[in-house]
Amino acid sequence: MIYLDNAATSWPKPPEVLIAMTDALEHAGGNPGRSGHRLSIAAARVIYDTRETIASFFGVSDPLRVIFTGNATHAINLALKGMLKPGDHVVTSSMEHNAVMRPLRNLDREGVRLSITPCATDGSLDVQEVARAVTSGTRLVVMTHGSNVVGTIILVAEIASIAHRAGALLLVDAAQTAGALPINMSEMGIDLLAFTGHKELQGPPGIGGLVIADNIDISQIEPLIRGGTGSRSESEEQPDDLPDKFESGTANLAGIAGLGAGLKWIQERGIDEIRNHLKKLSRSLIDGLSSLPNVKVYGTLDPERSVAIISFTVDGMRISEIGLRLDEEFGVLSRVGLHCAPAAHKTIGSFPEGTVRLAPGVFTTIDDIQKAIQAISRMVRS
Ligand SMILES: Cc1ncc(COP(=O)(O)O)c(C=O)c1O
Repeated sequence: MIYLDNAATSWPKPPEVLIAMTDALEHAGGNPGRSGHRLSIAAARVIYDTRETIASFFGVSDPLRVIFTGNATHAINLALKGMLKPGDHVVTSSMEHNAVMRPLRNLDREGVRLSITPCATDGSLDVQEVARAVTSGTRLVVMTHGSNVVGTIILVAEIASIAHRAGALLLVDAAQTAGALPINMSEMGIDLLAFTGHKELQGPPGIGGLVIADNIDISQIEPLIRGGTGSRSESEEQPDDLPDKFESGTANLAGIAGLGAGLKWIQERGIDEIRNHLKKLSRSLIDGLSSLPNVKVYGTLDPERSVAIISFTVDGMRISEIGLRLDEEFGVLSRVGLHCAPAAHKTIGSFPEGTVRLAPGVFTTIDDIQKAIQAISRMVRS
C-alpha cells in the first residue's frame, strides 16, 4: 500500500507518538488541573510540556498562549467568532477551506462584512489584491498558509505587514503547513495561528490549537465555549486568565501527549530536512504526472512555492474512477473530489468535479512516488 493522503491526515504516525499516548494514559491518567493528587499533577505536566514545545516551535515566548482545541476547525471558529462582531470587516482569500469559509459565511449573514480576495488559477495570491481589500475598518485578515488543494503557499510576512498597517490582525490557517514548513509567528508577523495535530505535526486526530502571539490583547477575543476549568471554582463566571479563558472541559490528555511527541520527533529530524524531503517528492510527482498524456496538473508546479499537495485530472476519466482504481488495483491511496474547499476549486477551474489529490508525507519514499506514477500511467494509457 502506498499512502498518499497525508493532507487528509498523516499516516503512519511515528512510533514515539503511540508510545507517548499510551504512556500518558498509563502513568499520568489523572484529570489535569482538577485534583491535586500525583496523577493529576503528572497529567498537567504532560500538557504543560507540550504547550512549551508548541510555543517554541512556532516562535511564541509564553506557553500559556497556546490554546488547545479539538482541531484546526475549532481553533479557526474560536478566533473568528471570538473576534468578529456585526459591522466588522474581514478579508480572506478565494483559496480557503470550508473551515474558514463556512464560519465566515455565517458571520457575514450576521452582519460582519466579508471581502474575498481573488487568487490566480495556480492558487497564488497577489499581495496587491490584499492591499486593495484591506481598509482602515478591517479588523481581521484570515488566510490559509498552504492550500489543501494545490499546496500553494501565501506570502505571510507581506500580508501581515498590510494587515498591521491598517490596524488589522492576521489569522493564519496552518492546517497544511504546520510541521511541513518552518513557521515563526513573531518573525512572520502572525497574530493568531490555527493548527491541527493530525497532519504534518504527526500527532493523533482530535487535537489542535490556536496560538496567540505574545503582543495580542486577549480581551478582544471572546471564548467559544464556557465551563469548568479547574481554576477559580468559586466563580460562576469564565476566568480571564490564559489558557483557561478559552479551554473549558477536560483536556485531551492522550492527544496532547501524542502531539508533543510528534513535535519532538520533527524537531529531532529538523523541519528543514523534512521540507527538503517533501520538496523532492513533489518535484518527482509533478514531473512524472506532467509527462503523462491527457493529465492536467494544477497549482504552481513549483515545489519551492508549495507544500507537497498535488492535484490532477485526466481528460475522459472520472476522478471517482481514478481514485477507486488507484486503491483497488494498485494500492495507491489518494483523495478525490472537492476536499472541503469549493472556493479553491472554483479558483483553479476544477469545480464542481474536483481533482484527484496526492499528498506524500514524511514517510513516503521516491520509490513510492515512482510506483504511483507508474500506476497512473498504466491507467491513463489503458
Ligand atoms: C487548509 C485546511 N484548513 C483547515 C482544515 C481543517 O482541519 P481539521 O479537520 O483538522 O479541523 C483542513 C483539513 O483538511 C485544511 O486542509
